[in-house]
Amino acid sequence: GTVVLAYSGGLDTSCILVWLKEQGYDVIAYLANIGQNENFEEARKKALALGARKVYIEDVSREFVEEFIWPAVQANALYEDRYLLGTSLARPCIARKQVEIARKEGAQFVSHGATGKGNDQVRFELTCYALWPQIKIIAPWRMPEFYNRFCGRNDLMDYAKKHGIPVPVTPKSPWSMDENLMHISYEAGILENPKNQAPPGLYTKTKDPATSPDTPDILEIEFRKGVPVKVTNTKDGATRQSSLELFVYLNEIAGKHGVGRIDIVENRFIGMKSRGIYETPAGTILYHAHLDIEAFTMDREVRKIKQGLALKFSELVYNGFWYSPECDYVRHCISKSQEMVEGKVRVSAFKGQVYILGRESPRSLYNQELVSMNVQGDYEPSDATGFININSLRLKEYHRLQSKVAAK
Ligand code: ARG
Ligand code: SIN
Repeated sequence: GTVVLAYSGGLDTSCILVWLKEQGYDVIAYLANIGQNENFEEARKKALALGARKVYIEDVSREFVEEFIWPAVQANALYEDRYLLGTSLARPCIARKQVEIARKEGAQFVSHGATGKGNDQVRFELTCYALWPQIKIIAPWRMPEFYNRFCGRNDLMDYAKKHGIPVPVTPKSPWSMDENLMHISYEAGILENPKNQAPPGLYTKTKDPATSPDTPDILEIEFRKGVPVKVTNTKDGATRQSSLELFVYLNEIAGKHGVGRIDIVENRFIGMKSRGIYETPAGTILYHAHLDIEAFTMDREVRKIKQGLALKFSELVYNGFWYSPECDYVRHCISKSQEMVEGKVRVSAFKGQVYILGRESPRSLYNQELVSMNVQGDYEPSDATGFININSLRLKEYHRLQSKVAAK
């Protein structure tokens, strides 16, 4: 049969490609351009040389921003209070295109190089099954005949040498990386001991805040329906209006100031804890800016409900349930909450931090006259006395009971 393999150009998926051929499959290699730093033409040549019948290099970066990152920005999505979900959001985007290719090619199989211990296998496969229920998935890292043969990197290298797979000349970093437009992650290898600090040379998308510029960059980010539509650098007059350009620009500015680094231990869906280091420059600026414009424009009680939905959304995305009825429903509700989230936020990126400097909006619920300490506005201060009295009723009753119980 024909298999569409999610190919990265690296050692693992190169060996998988050759191994699949060895098992008798006709292999189509698929490489998603999701904004990572990669020599795509080099990878195409390599896949063809290894025996792929066809190679697809698909640019999904714009759809990644508009259909996956924007809903996460609207949600203020964070997994376990810290992780902005860069890898988690990319997986359904990559797998969706893979299924599309499989359908077009009449392939019954798809394959990937995710390990059997992680989240990515779940995300890839739940997406594939949701979008094409009849699809058959080949996950070599979960097949004994594969993982008993390739126990470590050395086995892969030996196999590569034997089968004419170009072995990377530069020694591989002693950790695993996953990169896309939104973030880069570093896991495993020398990072597996959570006590070990990341070596300074590890970071690729952000400068070290300790040596980043001594003057901040100040930006204005304009939102409509909770989505950034325009970024202006108030100093040099540069304006970015398209989703992709704007996101790339924010990555550049945030990266220059060391914004968006985290080092965390998180809970994988599978049940184990893992240590990860992430850089999410633009995502971090947008997280803070969006929180601010949302607080400015959204009703208090709607916000509380939306916050609960966002927590659910983050968990669903992390666990691989992007294409599920519940995630669809939650996205719909969150999107509804964003109708009035409009306006401009002025932010500063400086020494690893994002500072909010001010905001303005035609849709704000902020009423300066109402809140002012200098004007009375449409408000009767004496009304607050009754408000406090009624609210104190329950507290007084509770205290009365406490004193009674203590006296016994
Ligand atoms: N732990 C993060 C997540 O589950 C990052 C995973 C990185 N994936 C990778 N293939 N290196 O979203
Ligand atoms: C992998 O297992 O392939 C990477 C880590 C993860 O998916 O959580």
